[in-house]
Amino acid sequence: MTQRKGIILAGGTGTRLYPITIGVSKQLLPIYDKPMIYYPLTTLMLSGIREIAIITTPVDQDQFRRTLGDGSQWGISLDYITQPTPDGLAQAYILAEGFLGGAPSAMVLGDNIFFGHGLPILLQEADRAADGGTVFGYHVADPERYGVVDFDASGQVRAIVEKPAMPPSNYAVTGLYFLDETASRRARDVTPSARGELEIASLLEMYLADGALSVKQMGRGYAWLDTGTHASLLDAGNFVRTLEQRQGLQSGSPDEIAFSNGWISADDLIKRANQFGKNSYGTYLKRLISET
Ligand code: G1P
Repeated sequence: MTQRKGIILAGGTGTRLYPITIGVSKQLLPIYDKPMIYYPLTTLMLSGIREIAIITTPVDQDQFRRTLGDGSQWGISLDYITQPTPDGLAQAYILAEGFLGGAPSAMVLGDNIFFGHGLPILLQEADRAADGGTVFGYHVADPERYGVVDFDASGQVRAIVEKPAMPPSNYAVTGLYFLDETASRRARDVTPSARGELEIASLLEMYLADGALSVKQMGRGYAWLDTGTHASLLDAGNFVRTLEQRQGLQSGSPDEIAFSNGWISADDLIKRANQFGKNSYGTYLKRLISET
């Protein structure tokens, strides 16, 4: 199988978080001690993916480049793709077609935060599935805000419905999609929904119709955090703070994951740590080196 490539979708105007996001992209807002996009980026890195494209609005792209660079500091490569207008999640596969070059992909939404002990294994299993698609269902209190899984009586997936007024289950489809190399071709056949968007649910329905969609459960031992409202943004920051303060370990550090994946050396990590000087991130990276 061709090596899977990653996509982080970080376009969108973030109007739900106005006035905060008038001047800055939502995916660059802080989640406690890191920019939001560090978390989805590290989700892809934990899947073993090293070639990643970041899709942004035209005006925000410079800020993303300044924040993340070309990825070489983490032993990965980062490309930037512009989304001129936010016309839906499935559009990402059309915009990224050239970047993917026929490779399978893992797309993560730039505002989705995942945490959990078995996460790397769950992700690497999805990465190994050569054909079709894998998505994750997560039990939430407010499914009407998401794409929702409709199960039949025998527990088989019947449909994926986008933001249903009457949710058929409490299982939301998280913003993490492992799709095979047919995604871009299929995305071209998606027709705009009533709200004028190329819905990811429509693309997933195509896989489902071909019997090619696997919906894996992301169980209650995982945290899937959402940053779509002011309250959930703050909750996500508090969650990371609680965890990091208790454990003395960081969540969502691309430097740590690059190092533990063997993608950068101890010397590389020391250089990075020195760039941050005595601040908490630099101190943390130095401690990692001394502990190994
Ligand atoms: C999008 C998708 C939805 C998915 C959600 C996950 O919704 O359309 O299917 O469940 O992301 O975060 P949005 O958050 O863009 O409204």
